Amino acid sequence: MKRKILLQLDCDPAASVFDAVVAIDADVDQLLQYQDVEPTRVRELIHGAMFTRGPDDLKSTAIFIGGSDVSSGENLLEAVQRCFFGPMRVSVMLDANGANTTAAAAVLAARKHLELKGATAAVLGGTGPVGQRVARLLAAEGAQVRITSRALEHAQAACAAIGQHVDQALLSAHSAGQPAQTAEAITDCQIVIAAGAAGVELISSGLRKAANKLRIAIDLNAVPPAGIEGIEVMDRGVERDGVLCYGAIGVGGTKMKIHKAAIRHLFTANNLVLDAPEIYELGKQLG
Ligand SMILES: NC(=O)c1ccc[n+]([C@@H]2O[C@H](COP(=O)([O-])OP(=O)(O)OC[C@H]3O[C@@H](n4cnc5c(N)ncnc54)[C@H](OP(=O)(O)O)[C@@H]3O)[C@@H](O)[C@H]2O)c1
Repeated sequence: MKRKILLQLDCDPAASVFDAVVAIDADVDQLLQYQDVEPTRVRELIHGAMFTRGPDDLKSTAIFIGGSDVSSGENLLEAVQRCFFGPMRVSVMLDANGANTTAAAAVLAARKHLELKGATAAVLGGTGPVGQRVARLLAAEGAQVRITSRALEHAQAACAAIGQHVDQALLSAHSAGQPAQTAEAITDCQIVIAAGAAGVELISSGLRKAANKLRIAIDLNAVPPAGIEGIEVMDRGVERDGVLCYGAIGVGGTKMKIHKAAIRHLFTANNLVLDAPEIYELGKQLG
């Protein structure tokens, strides 16, 4: 097999060191980093990757799309795929801002303890890139998913966007601008996943304790204060008041394993597109 080359495409002024370290830890032989990448620049970069090795060796070249802005990453993914034709393609993974690997790890944490099909789950701050992916993965598993936002129309827009990807998704939009609205949104939920912005508390411990059907609470915010009061950032299946709790770093171990496994998987074929659902499926296989 040829040496494994990974092109790291990043929309930020400096390509992510985090993503580079993970790539090297996932046994990439040569990392080529490109920063400030815009969709208009993608074609020349991808042609360089596609036309240098024969078709049989294309699986030894792959692309990782990172950067802090998830919607820019999505645009780059579209631009990359537009360059491919016939067998002339290389595998590509999107994990801008860690959104796909984080969402996959969060849903896998819940799945470890509860059958997701038929469960009721609330995704707090579910309008952001991580929350939307969490909601999408839960919906695809057959859970009833409540997406909360400070603005109902944002939650409705997120439901509509996810509904385009998941057949028969059971999604509902909820306002959570006030604690009483959040309390109503999580009533009867077995799972709550907080995916709000860093450093924002979305739910007090009082609200959490009042949700008497709650079995699993996952907080993805690592920046104090916690998104769910009372959950510690290192929690990994810690029982608190009868609820199994995960904090951001508690979920992070699985996230890192998924990220490395996905990079390694890129080099098994030349036609893989690893976005949220594919990355989640890989995470499932890790057990
Ligand atoms: N562990 C990891 O490796 C990892 C990786 C990536 C992200 N994360 C964490 O995952 C969480 C979600 O990430 P993200 O990028 O999706 O987040 P984000 O886009 O910054 O925020 C998510 C949602 O939070 C809500 N929000 C923003 N400011 C708020 C405020 N002051 N009060 C209440 N709600 C507010 C917004 O929803 P509305 O405007 O609709 O209310 C927003 O859509 C973050 O805490 C992030 O740090 C962790």
